[in-house]
Amino acid sequence: MMNRPTDGPFAPVTEEVTAFDLPVTGRIPAELCGRYLRNGPNPLGIDDPSASHLFLGEGMLHGVRLRDGKAEWYRNRWVRSRKVAAHLGEEWRPGPVFQKLDWAPNTHVISHAGRTLALIEAGPRPYELSYELDTLGPYDFDGGLPGGYTAHTKRDPRTGELHAIAYFFGWQYVQYIVADARGAITRTVNIRVSDGPMVHDFALTQRYVVVYDLPITFDLDLALGGALLPYAWNEAHPARIGLLPRDGEDVQWFTIDPCFVFHTLNAFDDGEKVVVDLVKFPKMLQNGLLEDNPPPVLDRWTIDPVAGRVTQRTLDDRPQEFPRVDERRVSLPHRYGYTVSGEALLDGKVGEAMLKHDYLRGGTEIRPLGRGSYVGEAVFAPSAPDSAEDEGHVMALMYDAARGATDLLILAAQDFTGKPVATVHLPVRVPLGFHGSWLPDPA
Ligand SMILES: [Fe+2]
Repeated sequence: MMNRPTDGPFAPVTEEVTAFDLPVTGRIPAELCGRYLRNGPNPLGIDDPSASHLFLGEGMLHGVRLRDGKAEWYRNRWVRSRKVAAHLGEEWRPGPVFQKLDWAPNTHVISHAGRTLALIEAGPRPYELSYELDTLGPYDFDGGLPGGYTAHTKRDPRTGELHAIAYFFGWQYVQYIVADARGAITRTVNIRVSDGPMVHDFALTQRYVVVYDLPITFDLDLALGGALLPYAWNEAHPARIGLLPRDGEDVQWFTIDPCFVFHTLNAFDDGEKVVVDLVKFPKMLQNGLLEDNPPPVLDRWTIDPVAGRVTQRTLDDRPQEFPRVDERRVSLPHRYGYTVSGEALLDGKVGEAMLKHDYLRGGTEIRPLGRGSYVGEAVFAPSAPDSAEDEGHVMALMYDAARGATDLLILAAQDFTGKPVATVHLPVRVPLGFHGSWLPDPA
């Protein structure tokens, strides 16, 4: 287990803050009208934050609202689960929870069918938030969600459908879930698995769903011993990936060497083959521990369903994580991908650089950070719905050590290593957390 340090990048904050008209260095592009939101664990009311696992803690949203070249507001808000609401002396807004698993989702925040949703995996359902990040209550897709949901969804940019794979330790399967563009669940497929694997993410192409069934599984001994995160590397669990046709029920499985994948960058069909770009951990959670695992690398896997084979190639062996792609390329061929130095998340060191990978020509642009700074996941925001793949901006929360507070960094994607287009100065520090989204306002 790796517990949350009481100081430094991962230390939680204790206040909810609302600030208007934020100071900006540079010029916020006028086309950026919407919200940059990011989720992360922020243990609530715990005297000793180190009693909380680094992956756990109540979800806190951080949001910056941009409009007309201005940074109108910053807000940070805990998600009001029943426990959080009680702690804050508020009424809980009841809603449909699964198996009494009412957790404040801490892993991702997305928008679908006009709703802002905080997400988490392994059983608890999403929570819906207002535009200003107030909690509206648990969300089950208007009754359509059979169980829990996931932290990592994929939206098909052609259909607007939202795809997901949910897992739960009490299930003998993982569940593929499709919601249509209006938020109605239109399809679920239960995919049989053994040992209760952790399925943090998956991949989507136009033809297939790619399932990761990898050797981190539910660990009963850890659970009975009171471990906060009862999942561990399991040598006895075969590593395999599956191809489920998007309109089918039968999975074709491929055995691979043991490894773990938290995050997909993107995937696409290449003739009969399937190409998956991802970040691979050679091992992870050995004995349930985040420490002492070999660092993650950027891989390209090519799945050949005809030959029944997976070819794995490491494209960049620098430690990195939080892979992201232009969301308009999800399930389609992409040229560019963004990652950040992953070391911050592995051994408590601060992050080192933001990376932009060019999959077409090869090569990586590296944007080093200032001394003592650290950066979270980078999200791409297109300049216009039909702009070119890297015609737009890259946004990330970066801690400014000199100021002792966090900035929202806005880079021109085509000038990735150049001077930022704009730097929005938030009034407070934002702890390193998990995932976020640029959510443009409806046109
Ligand atoms: Fe994740």
